[in-house]
Amino acid sequence: MHDDVDRVLFSRDAIAARVAELGQAIADDLDALADHPTEVMLVPVLTGSMVFVADLIRHLPHKLRIGVMSVSSYPGRSIESKGALIRGGLPDDLAGKHVLIVDDILDTGQTLTLVRDIIAEQRPAEVRTCVLLRKDREQARSFPVDYVGFDIPDEFVVGYGLDYNDYYRNLPDIVTLRTEALR
Ligand code: PRP
Repeated sequence: MHDDVDRVLFSRDAIAARVAELGQAIADDLDALADHPTEVMLVPVLTGSMVFVADLIRHLPHKLRIGVMSVSSYPGRSIESKGALIRGGLPDDLAGKHVLIVDDILDTGQTLTLVRDIIAEQRPAEVRTCVLLRKDREQARSFPVDYVGFDIPDEFVVGYGLDYNDYYRNLPDIVTLRTEALR
C-alpha cells in the first residue's frame, strides 16, 4: 500500500463488484428504452471519472456514444470546492438523445448541476446521472441522481480516478490519505 494512504474505504474487488451491479442496472434501463440503441450518449465528466467510466462501459453491451467533458472545482491542493468551471469538451450533438452523465463523486453537487443545466440547453430526450460515490452531506443527499455506487462519509477520498493535486488517481482502491499527505 502507498505510504500516504490512511485507510482503504473500498477495495478494488468491492469496487469491481459494485460497478458490475451498476452496469447491470443501467443496462436494464437502456434495454427498456423504446428507441434504443441509436440515441444513447454517455457524458463522462473528466478527469475523475475516467477509471470508473472505463470499467462501467464494459458492462454495457449497447450501441452508444461517449462524449467527454472536463469540469474542475477542486484545483491543485483544494479539498473544498472552489466552484465548478467547465474546462472544455462539451458535446454539442445531444438534441433528442438519451444522455447519461457519469461522474466519480457527488459532493456539493455544483459539478452535476452545471453539467446537467448546460446539457439541458441542447434539449436531449432525457438526462440521467450516475455517480460512483455520494458524500454524506445535505447538498449531495438532496441532489437527484439516478445511479449511485456507494454512499460514503464526508471525507476526502482519492484513488480509482479521484485525486489530490492530480496525484493518486492511479491507486486501484478508494482510500483516505494521511494528514501529512494533504499539503
Ligand atoms: C471532482 C469530482 C467531481 C466533482 C464533485 O472533480 O471529480 O467531478 O469534483 O464535486 P462537487 O459535487 O462538489 O461539484 P474536480 O474538480 O476535482 O476535477 P477532476 O475531475 O479533474 O479531479
